[in-house]
Amino acid sequence: MTELIIIKPDDMHLHLREGDILKYACKDTAKQFARAIVMPNLQAPIISVDQAEKYYLDIKKNVGIYNFEPLMTLFFTDLLNSDEIKKVSDSEIVHGIKLYPSGVTTNSDNGIDSIEKCFNIFELMQKHEVPLLIHGETNDKSVDIFDREKVFIDRHLSQIHSKFPDLRIVFEHISTKEAVDFVIGTNDKVGATITPQHILLDRNDLLSGGIKPHHYCLPILKRTEDRLAIIKAAVSGSQKFFLGTDSAPHFRHQKESSCGCAGIYSAVCAIELYASIFESENALDKLENFSSKFGAEFYKLPYNDLKIKLIKKEFQIPDKIKIGTEEIIPLFAGETLPWQLSEI
Ligand code: NCD
Ligand code: ZN
Repeated sequence: MTELIIIKPDDMHLHLREGDILKYACKDTAKQFARAIVMPNLQAPIISVDQAEKYYLDIKKNVGIYNFEPLMTLFFTDLLNSDEIKKVSDSEIVHGIKLYPSGVTTNSDNGIDSIEKCFNIFELMQKHEVPLLIHGETNDKSVDIFDREKVFIDRHLSQIHSKFPDLRIVFEHISTKEAVDFVIGTNDKVGATITPQHILLDRNDLLSGGIKPHHYCLPILKRTEDRLAIIKAAVSGSQKFFLGTDSAPHFRHQKESSCGCAGIYSAVCAIELYASIFESENALDKLENFSSKFGAEFYKLPYNDLKIKLIKKEFQIPDKIKIGTEEIIPLFAGETLPWQLSEI
């Protein structure tokens, strides 16, 4: 196959940031994606529908020529109440609420300390059909970083799903075989996003032969067997698994530091990466479902009308993205991929 036309994809897990980065992140994403679930972990998190509406307009101003729809989310805090949940449910632009255990990742200090204390809110979300998006790692510092996802499933996620079986849950950026197995064992209310890095890289790519700060993200990269389970899930044709890049830009100096930030920037080459992965798995025929249909179905959205064309022609990922005097280094900077986006 040398050419592929698919429905313009949706990125169901994305960080667009604010300030100087916003313009670049919006443009890179809007070129490839028709819509994206926009994460609320700004420095001051988006905790109300009113704030989400303002952020939505900021994003819209920055998408340039592209017809791009941001799908907004709220940051789950103790301040949520039934009025706000009702507002989310009535909102045309807010599509879910993202729960971060406090301190578990970038800008999550205002997250949740006791999941059990959130059960009344989960009940309301279930009733009003508001999806719960979860960063599924325990914030218990006594748990080894490589086990935090598995422990979160055992301590919390299984319980949430069995207590609220009709609550739609997205298990974000799954990174382990245990997460794949958990999702497969649930009903159709539970789905999961899959990033390119958790398909393509394992912890050796982060830590062996020198530390690679641009491969550092959370959940941290795991073992090869986890990576293989995630690829298998992505190309399985199950509608529970869909595209979510978790593209999360940080400036180069924040990553190349004695305490480097977690987050990988992939928006500039995301669909090319997924196309290359699906091709090497002999599953290009499954790419459109994974990238453009299953996520939309989960969020009860219509498929996009727009299409994109990918052609089999080498694409060189930029070395860096310059933003004023700062730089962002994308995933696989400077490397070549076999597929590229083309004019339709
Ligand atoms: C994300 C970020 O930088 O906002 N970082 C990451 O490593 N994935 C937050 C997140 O999704 O955990
Ligand atoms: Zn994220």
